[in-house]
Amino acid sequence: KKDLLGLEYLTAEELSHILETAEGFKEVSTRDIKKVPALRGKTAANLFYEPSTRTRVSFEIAEKRLSCDVVNMDMKASSVLKGETLADTGRNLEALKIDIFVIRHHMAGAPNVLSQFVNASVVNAGDGKHEHPTQALLDIYTLKEKFGSLKGLNVSIIGDISHSRVARSNIWGLTKLGANVTLCAPEIILPHDFKQFGVKITSDLDEALKDAHAINVLRMQFERDNAAAFPSPSQYYKQYGITKDRLKKHKKDIIVMHPGPINRGIEISSDVADGPNSVILDQVTNGIAVRMAVLYLVSTAKRG
Ligand code: CP
Repeated sequence: KKDLLGLEYLTAEELSHILETAEGFKEVSTRDIKKVPALRGKTAANLFYEPSTRTRVSFEIAEKRLSCDVVNMDMKASSVLKGETLADTGRNLEALKIDIFVIRHHMAGAPNVLSQFVNASVVNAGDGKHEHPTQALLDIYTLKEKFGSLKGLNVSIIGDISHSRVARSNIWGLTKLGANVTLCAPEIILPHDFKQFGVKITSDLDEALKDAHAINVLRMQFERDNAAAFPSPSQYYKQYGITKDRLKKHKKDIIVMHPGPINRGIEISSDVADGPNSVILDQVTNGIAVRMAVLYLVSTAKRG
């Protein structure tokens, strides 16, 4: 496919193909010279309408390692502030011969809209509450590295499920690849209608931890609209914080993931985030190979 808009739109075979391609690029990252000429002559534009540390930097590194030319747009200094629409921004940049757009946007569906107005590839780097497909791909890649296969793996996603695009993309990707997914959060941010996606839902943290091989811990998005009804950070930590004591009762070798940014002492304690079960920084590193694979595959895909 020429775009990566969400994992909802991919088959299990397509997901596996991206992950296998990423393995090749991960091997490249172990070499002295980490650069390959795969996208020489192409130009990528990174359009981040929302803040980002990991995604923005790892897309830029991935593009540079593929020998792609890179344009980092400062959206706060762009003509968006003068009222230019996303479609016009995209079409004008395409007139400047942009081949790949990487876009993060506060509005769910913004990458889908952009893809309708440009022939260039569009890669979703997180859109509102909708999807964050490359995050889920790197999460899944990290799980595959640890466990070999996703089939039958019990993965619990714990935290602010309601507002999380990471949760949505992980649910699509993990269930398609055969993992058993449990969602856990306080009732106020636990969307029970997600049962339709074939996941288990609970507000009991110990139930979510009981048989889990891996957990993906999410940040509480206190900046969101209904945050007034959220438990306070200290209440949340007491009831749902992932701490050493909490994990002690469950599988000794449980894998702990977090997409970042971490709010230490709210959803996770520092001794767990930095402890032996944590693969949080492995996830960040794997983001480069996974994004190299995505950029390579979308830009070499046949146009329909
Ligand atoms: N995981 C993630 O999307 O982090 P950033 O917001 O820093 O990109």
